[in-house]
Amino acid sequence: MWGSASAAYQVEGAWNADGKGPSVWDEFAKIPGKTFRGSHGDVAVDHYHRFKEDVALMAEMGLGAYRFSVSWPRVLPNGRGTVNEAGLKFYDELIDELLKHKIEPILTLYHWDLPLALQKEYAGWESPRVIADFDVYARLLFNRFGHKVKYWVSINEQNYFTSNAYLTGRHPPGLKDEKVFYLANHHAFLANATVIRSFRELVPEGKIGPSFALSPSYPASAKPEDVLAADSAEDFLNHWWLDVYANGTYPKLPFRHLQNKGLAPTVTEQELSLLRSAKPDFLGVNYYQSLTFAANPEGGVSDGHFNTSGKKGSTQSTGRPGLYKTVANPFVETTNWDWNIDPAGLRLALRRLNNRYALPVLITENGLGEFDELTGDEKVHDDYRIDYLRSHLVECKHAIEDGVDLLGFCSWSFTDLLSWLNGYQKRYGFVYVRRDETAEMDLKRIKKKSFAWYKEVIRTAGESLA
Ligand code: BG6
Repeated sequence: MWGSASAAYQVEGAWNADGKGPSVWDEFAKIPGKTFRGSHGDVAVDHYHRFKEDVALMAEMGLGAYRFSVSWPRVLPNGRGTVNEAGLKFYDELIDELLKHKIEPILTLYHWDLPLALQKEYAGWESPRVIADFDVYARLLFNRFGHKVKYWVSINEQNYFTSNAYLTGRHPPGLKDEKVFYLANHHAFLANATVIRSFRELVPEGKIGPSFALSPSYPASAKPEDVLAADSAEDFLNHWWLDVYANGTYPKLPFRHLQNKGLAPTVTEQELSLLRSAKPDFLGVNYYQSLTFAANPEGGVSDGHFNTSGKKGSTQSTGRPGLYKTVANPFVETTNWDWNIDPAGLRLALRRLNNRYALPVLITENGLGEFDELTGDEKVHDDYRIDYLRSHLVECKHAIEDGVDLLGFCSWSFTDLLSWLNGYQKRYGFVYVRRDETAEMDLKRIKKKSFAWYKEVIRTAGESLA
């Protein structure tokens, strides 16, 4: 599948239209200082009202699959209870429009926009009550769309959203509490497993899996301390999630470490058997970069400045004192947001996944966030994006030759959209959308150079990459 992806809050806008309830992001993004220049998704790129125009562009490109997320509070304004039929209708029409153009819909159940009502009522993911509510929401969508949507993503980047929500405080609810982080994350695992079980019952012919933000770990040097640091990072930052998804068990080493510190979640036998019984059909991989690690002494680095402005070089090292910290990799280029550009890291990540879990993989996101310049004659010469995507696709080909079972590739993103913390200036799309952080302008869609390039890649089923 040659696809592209988006998420509700980042594209839809219409934040309070037709009965939609508020999400945690509708509130959080408007707290001064939380996002770049106060940018938010009230209007975003107005996909809610312009989806037909956007799908027509997808069809013109020949796109094979479109991954989008459903906004939970658009269909259940209070998180549970009354269903908003107008919200369901929007997704019904979007799916039908995609199918009409032979574009495979890939539906993400949760891409971070928790209904605000549930956050207020019981602190959202901090409470086990979220598990049943998430299941009711998921079953509503399985029942409604299961006959026409085959591919489903359960939770997008549980690792990234829980880390930001409860460790760094950069996402709602903005907490910095390690114990709460592991607890909320455990609830998300149970919610993920619960909906996979429901899926088996309601959509037996479909395929479902979580999407994971995967950054393979490299050691900064061959110094044994650095190699151990990278090994620990791999355990704490990747296996902690992937082992649970694929095998239903937490990895032993980090679990013991956290138990000794009183931070590990309490896991019952019943929960373990639920986790073990909910193996996904595939692992969704969101790949943007590899990370490089060095030893980090006790009392060393934990959190550091995160570049949300595009001022190159402003990202600081982060880590887990006593175990590992991130360092720059002198062998790779970086973006203006200091993300490492490392196509071979994608091949490595896919190989590691294949060796450890032997599950099919769907690349649910890969792309380049950069400043784009719209010229006077309404062109965007984004050769850097073409280079990025081409080199990553070539590594996908190598990974397939290595034996990886790759179901598809979804670029991030189709149109430009809101980059959560980084505003609208960090652009990812094949289609430029004329707006900036504060002004919605005319939201005109303008095809970038990469649009024609990806069209050709799709048309030739990748032959044009050679
Ligand atoms: C992933 C998310 O973390 O990466 C997307 O699933 C996000 O929603 C993408 O937009 C790129 O990250 P950012 O922070 O540059 O928008």
